[in-house]
Amino acid sequence: MLSLVSSAFAQGNNYAQNYHKFDGLALTPPMGWNSWNKFACDIDEKIIREVADAIVSSGMRDAGYTYINIDDCWHGQRDSLGFIHADPVKFPSGIKALADYIHSKGLKIGIYSDAGSQTCGGRPGSRGYEFQDALTYANWGIDYLKYDWCNTESLNAEGAYKTITAALRKAGRPIVLSICEWGDNKPWEWAEPIGHLWRTTGDIYNCFDCIKDHGTWKAFGVLAILDMQDGLRKYAGKGHWNDPDMLEVGNGMPQNEDRAHFAMWCMLAAPLIAGNDPRQMSKETLQILTNKEVIAVNQDTLGIQGFKYATKDSVETWLKPLAGGDWAVCFLNRAKTPASIQFDWQEKTIFDELSQRELNAKDHTYQLKNLWTGKKSGSTAKPLRANIPAHDVLMFRLSAK
Ligand code: GLA
Repeated sequence: MLSLVSSAFAQGNNYAQNYHKFDGLALTPPMGWNSWNKFACDIDEKIIREVADAIVSSGMRDAGYTYINIDDCWHGQRDSLGFIHADPVKFPSGIKALADYIHSKGLKIGIYSDAGSQTCGGRPGSRGYEFQDALTYANWGIDYLKYDWCNTESLNAEGAYKTITAALRKAGRPIVLSICEWGDNKPWEWAEPIGHLWRTTGDIYNCFDCIKDHGTWKAFGVLAILDMQDGLRKYAGKGHWNDPDMLEVGNGMPQNEDRAHFAMWCMLAAPLIAGNDPRQMSKETLQILTNKEVIAVNQDTLGIQGFKYATKDSVETWLKPLAGGDWAVCFLNRAKTPASIQFDWQEKTIFDELSQRELNAKDHTYQLKNLWTGKKSGSTAKPLRANIPAHDVLMFRLSAK
């Protein structure tokens, strides 16, 4: 009798959901490309296919850029049964065909929706259609969902993101969930079991040191976003990352600023989602985006976000513990003029509470490699003296062995 009752109860309990994300995805920060920063709403299937081709032919795929993510404005209408369809003019072959194409290139595909009634670009949002949309994405072969926060009125953020993660679970296809509520509801405090990355700020703007006022909202340059990461590193780790927004490398900043932007995103263990037009990028842009040793700092298996160790005048010293006892060190010159630095590795033993790692140059000599010139640069036996150009970085890997 008891078993009859409990099985009847189990059958009747239609509302029991699993609100936990797919584990084992994004064990290092996700890498890929997204359409928004360069193309905004001007996207179509031709552009996305050509970008996928360019990601392969340029070597970006082999450098680790795996996800081709379609951002806002791919949507058409919902049909009479509520199923969402792609814009028939911009995506005449449909998303499934695009997903098949992208998969055939050894890449993965991401898509975008919104927890509210409409996306930020005014397209249909997923509110009330979460389970149906998740099913559609799974059927299309989607691997990554960026889920935005426009037009959510009084929705509770944690609840809304739990709903979409439960919907993705139910649909059954492992999909990375990128939480995009701009840090408004402190997602770092609740999102670890729900999503694989969460935006920590409003949108990035393609400038190094500015804030762009759009009237009702602001967008932030590289340094402004960097400063907003303060205090958040303890929340990041394998499978759950702070997301300071997508890259602007190749979108118009000078090379030194692009390099500093990329270096700092690597120090932050940030998702590396390129936002340029890879079909026509300069050699310099490609070199920055595919610098293997800088990427290795970002993708390090220890999964520890870097931290600001010191500030002296315009120069910040950032450290990131790496697997095997190595460290990444990045000196960032925030000023519009060059700066000279001096750093005595042996002055103090540095201990990072979070990772329980120690940088002890008194007892060990670390070998230095300059990650942007690719050159060996002596060791920690001698203090470092260097000049850093305006808005630029000097970045090393310290090898323990
Ligand atoms: C928000 C997000 C952006 C982008 C746009 C699309 O502003 O933060 O990253 O997805 O919406 O409309």
